[in-house]
Amino acid sequence: MSLDFNVKNAVTRRYSVRTYEKCLPDGELLKKLLDYAAGLQNPFGPKIRVQLIEKETAANGEKLGTYGVIKGAKLFLGVTVADKPYAMEAVGYDFEKLVLYAASLGLGTCWLGGTFNRSAFAEAMEIKEGELFPILSPLGYTSEKKSLTEKIMRKTVKADTRLDWQDIFYEGDFSNSLTQGSTDYAYALEMLRLAPSAVNKQPWRVVVCGDKVHFYKKAMAGAEISAVDMQRIDLGIAMCHFDLAMQEQGMAGHFEIAKPEINAPDGLEYIASFIMN
Ligand SMILES: Cc1cc2nc3c(=O)[nH]c(=O)nc-3n(C[C@H](O)[C@H](O)[C@H](O)COP(=O)(O)O)c2cc1C
Repeated sequence: MSLDFNVKNAVTRRYSVRTYEKCLPDGELLKKLLDYAAGLQNPFGPKIRVQLIEKETAANGEKLGTYGVIKGAKLFLGVTVADKPYAMEAVGYDFEKLVLYAASLGLGTCWLGGTFNRSAFAEAMEIKEGELFPILSPLGYTSEKKSLTEKIMRKTVKADTRLDWQDIFYEGDFSNSLTQGSTDYAYALEMLRLAPSAVNKQPWRVVVCGDKVHFYKKAMAGAEISAVDMQRIDLGIAMCHFDLAMQEQGMAGHFEIAKPEINAPDGLEYIASFIMN
């Protein structure tokens, strides 16, 4: 599937939009986005389903709300996936590709894993047996004026900043930090570094070993309570940014789950490796 957008433009244009304009995207634009969603295919296997939600209340009368976090949105995208291994990485990879495509079309989104009325949205969606419903996102045109809640949320999680290269990228093993000037993967890793993550925790850690790039997840307090591990979604998002940037540069590779013989510090879990073709 071709990319259909410039990665750097989409990555820098995207941010978590929490205040929306009243006017709605037209049917043609929505169809374009939903067709793109239907064609998504991630490297991890499990297929994600994206549903457009246009109602304001569920059949049982419950309001489809976001506890005041999202203002003005009339449309939402609900994401479901079968409960299988690597389902969360699949959600992260595929839905972020859709989020970036939406950004390239001038549409705003915001990953929501926690701040929404889950039972009401679940009621309003067709959720199949054995499916998980990890993520929801508003969809629409970005309001130029941010709500006070949005401003406060961004400040609280330092949404405009990211960890430095030396805190997240390594060469050979975890004892050597990787510098931007010393790697062929500089562009792809920088695109990864700009990725969104739940509460902006940036749990991705990456070790570059020649033609292999290994992805690890740093454990965060309170994360692994349920089948929906937000940090695994974050890893999927990060691997999406990395892979798309590599594809854009004509540096194709594929993902494999083949744990390398690298001593990882406590709290780091191996997730997958990108291997140059
Ligand atoms: C998996 C995931 C879950 C998220 N859940 C929420 C949420 O429940 N509520 C919210 O307001 N923002 C949520 N966010 C948005 C993050 O707070 C945001 O991506 C991060 O602060 C970086 O800001 P940016 O997206 O504007 O670059 C989530 C992001 C991700 C990737």
